[in-house]
Amino acid sequence: MKTIDDINFSGKKALVRVDFNVPLDKNNKITDDNRMQAAVPTLKKILNDGGSAILMSHLGRPKDGPEEKYSLKHLVSHLSEIMGGVKVHFANDCVGSEAEEKASQLKAGEILLLENTRFYPEESKGDEKLAKQMSKLGDVYVNDAFGSAHRAHSSTTTVAQFFDEKAAGYLLKAEIDNADKVMESGDKPFTAIMGGAKISDKIEIIERLLDKVDNLIIGGAMSYTFFKAMGGEVGKSLVEADKMDLANELIRKAKAKGVHLHLPIDSVVTQKIEEGAETRVANNHAIQGDWMGVDIGPEARQVFADTIAKSKIVLWNGPMGIFEIPDFAEGTRTVAEAVVKATEKGAFSLIGGGDSAAAVISMGYGDKVSYVSTGGGALLEYMEGKELPGVKALG
Ligand code: 3PG
Repeated sequence: MKTIDDINFSGKKALVRVDFNVPLDKNNKITDDNRMQAAVPTLKKILNDGGSAILMSHLGRPKDGPEEKYSLKHLVSHLSEIMGGVKVHFANDCVGSEAEEKASQLKAGEILLLENTRFYPEESKGDEKLAKQMSKLGDVYVNDAFGSAHRAHSSTTTVAQFFDEKAAGYLLKAEIDNADKVMESGDKPFTAIMGGAKISDKIEIIERLLDKVDNLIIGGAMSYTFFKAMGGEVGKSLVEADKMDLANELIRKAKAKGVHLHLPIDSVVTQKIEEGAETRVANNHAIQGDWMGVDIGPEARQVFADTIAKSKIVLWNGPMGIFEIPDFAEGTRTVAEAVVKATEKGAFSLIGGGDSAAAVISMGYGDKVSYVSTGGGALLEYMEGKELPGVKALG
Protein backbone atom coordinates (compact mmCIF):
# COMPACT_ATOMS: atom_id res chain seq x y z
CA MET A 1 0.00 0.00 0.00
CA LYS A 2 1.42 3.38 -1.02
CA THR A 3 1.59 5.76 1.93
CA ILE A 4 2.08 9.47 2.24
CA ASP A 5 5.78 8.84 2.93
CA ASP A 6 6.06 8.10 -0.79
CA ILE A 7 4.82 11.57 -1.71
CA ASN A 8 6.38 15.01 -1.42
CA PHE A 9 3.46 17.39 -0.95
CA SER A 10 5.43 20.56 -1.66
CA GLY A 11 3.22 22.92 -3.65
CA LYS A 12 0.41 20.35 -3.75
CA LYS A 13 -3.16 20.44 -2.51
CA ALA A 14 -4.02 17.17 -0.81
CA LEU A 15 -7.67 16.14 -0.67
CA VAL A 16 -7.72 14.16 2.56
CA ARG A 17 -10.59 11.94 3.75
CA VAL A 18 -10.45 11.93 7.54
CA ASP A 19 -12.91 10.38 9.98
CA PHE A 20 -13.91 13.29 12.20
CA ASN A 21 -17.10 11.52 13.25
CA VAL A 22 -16.61 12.60 16.88
CA PRO A 23 -19.24 12.86 19.62
CA LEU A 24 -20.59 16.36 20.34
CA ASP A 25 -22.61 17.41 23.39
CA LYS A 26 -25.78 19.54 23.37
CA ASN A 27 -23.67 22.69 23.03
CA ASN A 28 -21.77 21.27 20.07
CA LYS A 29 -18.62 20.78 22.16
CA ILE A 30 -16.45 17.78 21.26
CA THR A 31 -16.55 15.21 24.07
CA ASP A 32 -13.90 12.84 22.66
CA ASP A 33 -11.36 14.14 20.14
CA ASN A 34 -9.38 10.91 19.74
CA ARG A 35 -10.18 10.63 16.04
CA MET A 36 -9.12 14.22 15.38
CA GLN A 37 -5.86 13.81 17.30
CA ALA A 38 -5.18 10.62 15.37
CA ALA A 39 -5.22 12.54 12.06
CA VAL A 40 -2.68 15.15 13.19
CA PRO A 41 0.54 13.32 12.09
CA THR A 42 -0.77 12.94 8.52
CA LEU A 43 -1.86 16.57 8.33
CA LYS A 44 1.47 17.76 9.75
CA LYS A 45 3.43 15.76 7.18
CA ILE A 46 1.44 17.35 4.33
CA LEU A 47 1.81 20.88 5.69
CA ASN A 48 5.47 20.45 6.69
CA ASP A 49 6.28 19.30 3.15
CA GLY A 50 4.96 22.65 1.95
CA GLY A 51 1.52 21.47 0.89
CA SER A 52 -2.00 22.33 1.95
CA ALA A 53 -4.82 20.01 3.04
CA ILE A 54 -8.50 19.99 2.09
CA LEU A 55 -10.37 17.79 4.52
CA MET A 56 -13.52 15.77 3.90
CA SER A 57 -15.42 13.92 6.60
CA HIS A 58 -18.87 12.83 7.63
CA LEU A 59 -20.32 13.55 11.07
CA GLY A 60 -23.21 11.47 12.37
CA ARG A 61 -25.93 10.12 10.16
CA PRO A 62 -27.93 13.08 8.83
CA LYS A 63 -31.11 11.79 7.21
CA ASP A 64 -32.18 14.40 4.76
CA GLY A 65 -29.69 17.12 3.86
CA PRO A 66 -27.94 19.63 6.12
CA GLU A 67 -28.59 19.64 9.88
CA GLU A 68 -26.97 22.17 12.19
CA LYS A 69 -26.00 19.59 14.81
CA TYR A 70 -24.04 17.61 12.22
CA SER A 71 -22.13 20.58 10.83
CA LEU A 72 -18.36 20.22 10.73
CA LYS A 73 -18.01 23.93 11.45
CA HIS A 74 -18.22 22.96 15.14
CA LEU A 75 -14.77 21.36 14.75
CA VAL A 76 -12.88 24.25 13.14
CA SER A 77 -11.40 25.96 16.21
CA HIS A 78 -10.44 22.69 17.90
CA LEU A 79 -8.73 21.47 14.75
CA SER A 80 -6.69 24.66 14.56
CA GLU A 81 -5.77 24.27 18.23
CA ILE A 82 -4.56 20.66 17.99
CA MET A 83 -2.64 21.58 14.82
CA GLY A 84 -0.69 24.17 16.81
CA GLY A 85 -2.56 27.24 15.60
CA VAL A 86 -2.57 26.43 11.88
CA LYS A 87 -5.08 28.48 9.89
CA VAL A 88 -8.22 26.39 9.29
CA HIS A 89 -10.72 27.70 6.73
CA PHE A 90 -14.23 26.30 6.40
CA ALA A 91 -16.44 25.79 3.35
CA ASN A 92 -20.20 25.47 3.83
CA ASP A 93 -20.42 22.69 1.28
CA CYS A 94 -18.16 19.77 0.40
CA VAL A 95 -18.43 20.47 -3.35
CA GLY A 96 -19.41 23.35 -5.60
CA SER A 97 -18.22 26.89 -6.26
CA GLU A 98 -17.53 28.03 -2.68
CA ALA A 99 -15.47 24.92 -1.90
CA GLU A 100 -13.62 25.17 -5.23
CA GLU A 101 -12.89 28.86 -4.72
CA LYS A 102 -11.59 28.34 -1.18
CA ALA A 103 -9.54 25.32 -2.24
CA SER A 104 -7.90 27.25 -5.06
CA GLN A 105 -7.01 30.14 -2.74
CA LEU A 106 -5.63 27.89 0.00
CA LYS A 107 -1.99 28.67 0.82
CA ALA A 108 0.75 26.19 1.64
CA GLY A 109 0.61 25.35 5.34
CA GLU A 110 -3.15 25.93 5.60
CA ILE A 111 -6.17 23.67 5.99
CA LEU A 112 -9.62 23.86 4.46
CA LEU A 113 -12.29 21.84 6.26
CA LEU A 114 -15.30 21.02 4.09
CA GLU A 115 -18.87 20.64 5.32
CA ASN A 116 -20.27 17.18 6.13
CA THR A 117 -20.12 14.91 3.07
CA ARG A 118 -23.30 13.15 4.24
CA PHE A 119 -25.34 16.28 3.71
CA TYR A 120 -25.52 14.73 0.23
CA PRO A 121 -27.51 11.48 0.37
CA GLU A 122 -25.52 10.44 -2.74
CA GLU A 123 -22.39 10.18 -0.58
CA SER A 124 -23.50 6.96 1.11
CA LYS A 125 -24.41 5.45 -2.26
CA GLY A 126 -20.87 5.95 -3.52
CA ASP A 127 -22.21 8.26 -6.24
CA GLU A 128 -19.71 8.93 -9.03
CA LYS A 129 -20.93 12.40 -9.98
CA LEU A 130 -20.47 13.61 -6.42
CA ALA A 131 -17.07 11.93 -6.21
CA LYS A 132 -15.96 13.63 -9.42
CA GLN A 133 -16.96 17.04 -8.03
CA MET A 134 -15.00 16.29 -4.86
CA SER A 135 -11.96 15.30 -6.89
CA LYS A 136 -11.73 18.78 -8.42
CA LEU A 137 -10.63 20.16 -5.06
CA GLY A 138 -7.18 18.55 -4.79
CA ASP A 139 -4.17 17.30 -6.78
CA VAL A 140 -3.52 14.23 -4.62
CA TYR A 141 -5.97 11.99 -2.72
CA VAL A 142 -5.10 10.79 0.77
CA ASN A 143 -7.31 8.44 2.75
CA ASP A 144 -6.70 8.52 6.49
CA ALA A 145 -10.26 7.66 7.52
CA PHE A 146 -9.80 4.17 8.89
CA GLY A 147 -13.07 4.39 10.85
CA SER A 148 -14.95 4.76 7.54
CA ALA A 149 -12.84 2.46 5.37
CA HIS A 150 -15.58 -0.21 5.43
CA ARG A 151 -17.94 2.19 3.68
CA ALA A 152 -17.93 2.30 -0.13
CA HIS A 153 -18.95 5.95 -0.14
CA SER A 154 -18.11 8.74 -2.61
CA SER A 155 -15.49 10.39 -0.37
CA THR A 156 -13.95 7.18 1.00
CA THR A 157 -13.83 5.04 -2.12
CA THR A 158 -15.30 6.29 -5.42
CA VAL A 159 -13.30 9.52 -5.41
CA ALA A 160 -9.98 7.65 -5.51
CA GLN A 161 -10.45 6.60 -9.15
CA PHE A 162 -10.17 10.23 -10.27
CA PHE A 163 -6.61 10.59 -8.98
CA ASP A 164 -3.32 9.36 -10.42
CA GLU A 165 -1.59 10.07 -7.14
CA LYS A 166 -3.25 8.57 -4.04
CA ALA A 167 -1.99 7.16 -0.78
CA ALA A 168 -2.88 6.00 2.71
CA GLY A 169 -2.30 8.38 5.59
CA TYR A 170 -0.33 7.35 8.68
CA LEU A 171 -3.45 6.51 10.69
CA LEU A 172 -4.92 4.19 8.07
CA LYS A 173 -1.56 2.44 7.75
CA ALA A 174 -1.06 2.13 11.51
CA GLU A 175 -4.55 0.71 12.04
CA ILE A 176 -4.00 -1.99 9.41
CA ASP A 177 -0.52 -2.83 10.75
CA ASN A 178 -1.73 -3.12 14.35
CA ALA A 179 -4.75 -5.24 13.42
CA ASP A 180 -2.45 -7.51 11.39
CA LYS A 181 -0.10 -7.78 14.34
CA VAL A 182 -2.89 -9.04 16.59
CA MET A 183 -4.23 -11.54 14.10
CA GLU A 184 -0.94 -12.79 12.68
CA SER A 185 1.72 -12.57 15.40
CA GLY A 186 1.16 -16.13 16.64
CA ASP A 187 2.24 -15.15 20.18
CA LYS A 188 0.44 -17.08 22.92
CA PRO A 189 -1.67 -16.98 24.98
CA PHE A 190 -3.93 -14.86 22.78
CA THR A 191 -6.96 -13.58 24.69
CA ALA A 192 -9.90 -11.86 23.01
CA ILE A 193 -12.38 -9.99 25.16
CA MET A 194 -15.73 -9.37 23.53
CA GLY A 195 -18.37 -7.22 25.13
CA GLY A 196 -21.29 -5.02 24.22
CA ALA A 197 -24.97 -5.61 23.85
CA LYS A 198 -25.46 -8.01 20.98
CA ILE A 199 -23.99 -11.28 19.76
CA SER A 200 -25.42 -10.49 16.34
CA ASP A 201 -22.92 -7.60 15.92
CA LYS A 202 -19.96 -9.80 16.83
CA ILE A 203 -20.79 -13.20 15.43
CA GLU A 204 -18.42 -13.08 12.44
CA ILE A 205 -15.46 -11.81 14.44
CA ILE A 206 -16.10 -14.40 17.17
CA GLU A 207 -16.19 -17.18 14.58
CA ARG A 208 -12.87 -15.98 13.12
CA LEU A 209 -11.29 -15.57 16.55
CA LEU A 210 -12.17 -19.12 17.51
CA ASP A 211 -9.49 -20.26 15.03
CA LYS A 212 -6.87 -17.99 16.58
CA VAL A 213 -7.34 -17.43 20.30
CA ASP A 214 -6.56 -19.44 23.40
CA ASN A 215 -9.08 -17.58 25.56
CA LEU A 216 -12.34 -15.98 24.57
CA ILE A 217 -13.82 -13.80 27.29
CA ILE A 218 -17.42 -12.74 26.82
CA GLY A 219 -18.85 -9.97 28.93
CA GLY A 220 -21.43 -7.23 28.55
CA ALA A 221 -25.09 -7.78 27.84
CA MET A 222 -24.40 -10.34 25.13
CA SER A 223 -23.40 -12.85 27.83
CA TYR A 224 -27.03 -13.13 29.01
CA THR A 225 -28.07 -14.66 25.69
CA PHE A 226 -25.50 -17.40 26.40
CA PHE A 227 -26.84 -18.03 29.92
CA LYS A 228 -30.43 -18.07 28.73
CA ALA A 229 -29.40 -20.48 25.95
CA MET A 230 -27.85 -22.78 28.58
CA GLY A 231 -31.16 -22.83 30.46
CA GLY A 232 -30.35 -20.15 33.05
CA GLU A 233 -32.67 -17.55 34.57
CA VAL A 234 -31.55 -14.06 33.53
CA GLY A 235 -34.47 -11.97 34.80
CA LYS A 236 -34.97 -8.82 32.72
CA SER A 237 -31.44 -8.82 31.33
CA LEU A 238 -31.07 -8.10 27.63
CA VAL A 239 -31.43 -11.29 25.60
CA GLU A 240 -31.47 -11.85 21.85
CA ALA A 241 -34.09 -14.58 21.79
CA ASP A 242 -33.38 -15.45 18.16
CA LYS A 243 -29.67 -15.91 18.83
CA MET A 244 -29.85 -18.61 21.50
CA ASP A 245 -29.14 -21.47 19.08
CA LEU A 246 -26.20 -19.50 17.82
CA ALA A 247 -24.90 -19.04 21.37
CA ASN A 248 -25.08 -22.80 21.97
CA GLU A 249 -23.34 -23.37 18.66
CA LEU A 250 -20.51 -21.01 19.67
CA ILE A 251 -20.12 -22.81 23.01
CA ARG A 252 -19.87 -26.11 21.12
CA LYS A 253 -17.38 -24.73 18.58
CA ALA A 254 -15.16 -23.21 21.28
CA LYS A 255 -15.00 -26.60 23.00
CA ALA A 256 -14.25 -28.44 19.76
CA LYS A 257 -11.41 -26.02 18.95
CA GLY A 258 -9.93 -26.15 22.44
CA VAL A 259 -10.63 -22.47 23.16
CA HIS A 260 -11.26 -21.57 26.80
CA LEU A 261 -14.57 -19.74 26.73
CA HIS A 262 -14.92 -17.52 29.81
CA LEU A 263 -18.45 -16.35 30.50
CA PRO A 264 -19.01 -14.19 33.58
CA ILE A 265 -19.87 -16.25 36.65
CA ASP A 266 -21.78 -13.40 38.26
CA SER A 267 -23.27 -9.98 37.51
CA VAL A 268 -24.08 -6.71 39.17
CA VAL A 269 -27.85 -6.53 38.85
CA THR A 270 -30.34 -3.71 39.29
CA GLN A 271 -33.98 -2.92 38.66
CA LYS A 272 -33.32 0.55 37.28
CA ILE A 273 -30.64 1.71 34.86
CA GLU A 274 -29.61 4.86 36.72
CA GLU A 275 -26.85 6.08 39.01
CA GLY A 276 -27.62 5.38 42.68
CA ALA A 277 -30.14 2.60 41.97
CA GLU A 278 -30.05 -0.37 44.35
CA THR A 279 -27.69 -3.08 43.12
CA ARG A 280 -27.01 -6.70 44.09
CA VAL A 281 -24.65 -9.39 42.94
CA ALA A 282 -26.30 -12.42 41.34
CA ASN A 283 -25.15 -15.69 39.83
CA ASN A 284 -25.61 -15.46 36.08
CA HIS A 285 -27.76 -18.59 35.99
CA ALA A 286 -30.12 -17.17 38.60
CA ILE A 287 -31.06 -13.53 38.03
CA GLN A 288 -34.54 -13.19 39.49
CA GLY A 289 -37.77 -11.42 38.51
CA ASP A 290 -37.33 -7.86 37.28
CA TRP A 291 -33.61 -7.63 38.08
CA MET A 292 -31.21 -7.26 35.17
CA GLY A 293 -27.49 -7.54 34.69
CA VAL A 294 -25.67 -4.25 34.05
CA ASP A 295 -22.03 -5.18 34.77
CA ILE A 296 -19.93 -8.27 35.42
CA GLY A 297 -19.73 -9.26 39.09
CA PRO A 298 -16.72 -9.53 41.45
CA GLU A 299 -15.96 -13.20 40.77
CA ALA A 300 -16.11 -12.70 37.01
CA ARG A 301 -13.81 -9.66 37.34
CA GLN A 302 -11.25 -11.76 39.17
CA VAL A 303 -11.31 -14.61 36.64
CA PHE A 304 -11.19 -12.24 33.65
CA ALA A 305 -8.36 -10.15 35.15
CA ASP A 306 -6.25 -13.25 35.92
CA THR A 307 -6.70 -14.59 32.38
CA ILE A 308 -5.88 -11.25 30.75
CA ALA A 309 -2.81 -10.65 32.92
CA LYS A 310 -1.24 -13.93 31.72
CA SER A 311 -1.75 -13.14 28.03
CA LYS A 312 0.77 -12.12 25.36
CA ILE A 313 -1.78 -10.80 22.86
CA VAL A 314 -4.95 -9.06 24.01
CA LEU A 315 -7.77 -7.86 21.79
CA TRP A 316 -10.62 -6.04 23.49
CA ASN A 317 -13.82 -4.97 21.80
CA GLY A 318 -16.89 -3.90 23.74
CA PRO A 319 -17.47 -2.87 27.36
CA MET A 320 -18.35 -5.26 30.20
CA GLY A 321 -21.37 -3.28 31.34
CA ILE A 322 -23.09 0.10 31.16
CA PHE A 323 -19.82 1.86 32.02
CA GLU A 324 -21.19 5.34 31.25
CA ILE A 325 -22.97 5.04 34.64
CA PRO A 326 -20.21 5.00 37.30
CA ASP A 327 -22.05 2.44 39.49
CA PHE A 328 -21.91 -0.04 36.60
CA ALA A 329 -18.35 0.69 35.42
CA GLU A 330 -16.32 -1.52 37.74
CA GLY A 331 -16.14 -4.51 35.38
CA THR A 332 -14.97 -2.40 32.45
CA ARG A 333 -12.44 -0.66 34.71
CA THR A 334 -11.08 -3.98 36.03
CA VAL A 335 -10.65 -5.30 32.50
CA ALA A 336 -8.92 -2.05 31.44
CA GLU A 337 -6.53 -2.33 34.41
CA ALA A 338 -5.78 -5.97 33.59
CA VAL A 339 -5.03 -5.05 29.97
CA VAL A 340 -2.67 -2.32 31.19
CA LYS A 341 -0.96 -4.82 33.50
CA ALA A 342 -0.52 -7.35 30.69
CA THR A 343 0.90 -4.60 28.47
CA GLU A 344 3.39 -3.59 31.17
CA LYS A 345 4.56 -7.21 31.25
CA GLY A 346 5.20 -7.14 27.50
CA ALA A 347 1.90 -8.15 25.93
CA PHE A 348 0.63 -6.47 22.78
CA SER A 349 -2.82 -5.04 23.43
CA LEU A 350 -5.27 -3.57 20.96
CA ILE A 351 -8.44 -1.85 22.05
CA GLY A 352 -11.03 -1.48 19.35
CA GLY A 353 -14.60 -0.41 18.97
CA GLY A 354 -16.02 2.99 19.83
CA ASP A 355 -17.21 2.16 23.35
CA SER A 356 -14.24 0.22 24.72
CA ALA A 357 -11.82 2.73 23.20
CA ALA A 358 -13.80 5.59 24.79
CA ALA A 359 -13.82 3.74 28.13
CA VAL A 360 -10.06 3.16 28.12
CA ILE A 361 -9.34 6.78 27.19
CA SER A 362 -11.81 8.24 29.70
CA MET A 363 -10.26 6.09 32.44
CA GLY A 364 -6.84 7.55 31.61
CA TYR A 365 -5.34 4.34 30.17
CA GLY A 366 -5.17 5.44 26.52
CA ASP A 367 -1.35 5.60 26.51
CA LYS A 368 -0.86 2.54 28.73
CA VAL A 369 -2.06 0.00 26.18
CA SER A 370 -0.29 -0.83 22.90
CA TYR A 371 -2.86 0.61 20.52
CA VAL A 372 -6.31 2.20 20.71
CA SER A 373 -8.10 1.85 17.39
CA THR A 374 -10.24 4.64 15.97
CA GLY A 375 -12.33 2.06 14.15
CA GLY A 376 -15.61 0.53 15.25
CA GLY A 377 -17.26 -1.37 12.42
CA ALA A 378 -14.19 -0.92 10.20
CA LEU A 379 -11.90 -2.72 12.63
CA LEU A 380 -14.34 -5.58 13.09
CA GLU A 381 -14.77 -6.02 9.35
CA TYR A 382 -11.03 -5.95 8.77
CA MET A 383 -10.44 -8.51 11.49
CA GLU A 384 -13.23 -10.68 10.13
CA GLY A 385 -11.04 -10.95 7.02
CA LYS A 386 -13.10 -8.68 4.77
CA GLU A 387 -11.53 -6.38 2.24
CA LEU A 388 -12.16 -2.73 3.14
CA PRO A 389 -13.38 -0.74 0.10
CA GLY A 390 -11.53 2.39 1.26
CA VAL A 391 -8.25 0.49 1.34
CA LYS A 392 -8.88 -1.39 -1.90
CA ALA A 393 -9.54 1.90 -3.74
CA LEU A 394 -5.99 3.06 -2.98
CA GLY A 395 -4.47 0.01 -4.69
C1 3PG B 1 -17.89 5.07 12.85
O1 3PG B 1 -18.22 5.87 13.73
O2 3PG B 1 -17.78 3.84 13.04
C2 3PG B 1 -17.50 5.62 11.51
O3 3PG B 1 -17.32 6.99 11.54
C3 3PG B 1 -18.50 5.22 10.46
O4 3PG B 1 -19.74 5.77 10.76
P1 3PG B 1 -21.06 5.07 10.19
O5 3PG B 1 -21.25 3.78 10.93
O6 3PG B 1 -22.17 6.05 10.42
O7 3PG B 1 -20.82 4.81 8.72
